Amino acid sequence: MSIAVFASGSGSNFEALVERSRKQHWPQPISLLLCDKPQAKALERAERLRVPAVAFHPKEYKDKAAYEQDVLHCLQEHNIEWIMLAGYMRLVGPTLLEAYPWRILNIHPSLLPAFQGKDAVRQALEYGVRWTGVTVHWVDEGMDTGPILDQKPVLVEPHDTMETLQRKVQFVEHNLYPAVMYKLLTGRILPPDPSSMELKEEQ
Ligand code: GRF
Repeated sequence: MSIAVFASGSGSNFEALVERSRKQHWPQPISLLLCDKPQAKALERAERLRVPAVAFHPKEYKDKAAYEQDVLHCLQEHNIEWIMLAGYMRLVGPTLLEAYPWRILNIHPSLLPAFQGKDAVRQALEYGVRWTGVTVHWVDEGMDTGPILDQKPVLVEPHDTMETLQRKVQFVEHNLYPAVMYKLLTGRILPPDPSSMELKEEQ
């Protein structure tokens, strides 16, 4: 069994996860990068790191269920047990949630429930909070709404710009996300019972 990372963009978290998984000899390897954007820079990282990668074109499918059905086949072919979203700019639908109950994680660049959705670092800077941070949480049907696994604060200093704050947040992300996954893989955090994931009826 192994882990898939889903990304849509730069893939710096993907790279940090792969590096840590190799250094720490995780019991399950990261054996797949899945992108929903064929131009994503994450794909270049996968090539450099020699991690198998696949790119999907969600717009070519009639709906989310059809897209996720294809994704699911791909995950099954690669023997994937865990999914780590890392900058995957898409809501996960019932097809994947039902196939992977409490096996999908996400990382978000704020202290949830503050600043959900896109541009969380900018939202925090513009709001003027003194502390922001990083959250790793289980994925459910909502946008950044699943139960929280772990969080780490990041101080917003008066001289911070988007660039400096982003850098500090990413530094924390690159440590927190692998640390949480390692705890799950080694039984130091136990996932909830799969039958306890209740999904609303598909719309
Ligand atoms: C990260 O800030 C992550 O928290 C958010 O999207 C960003 C992805 O960055 N979900 P990268 O592609 O891993 O560099």
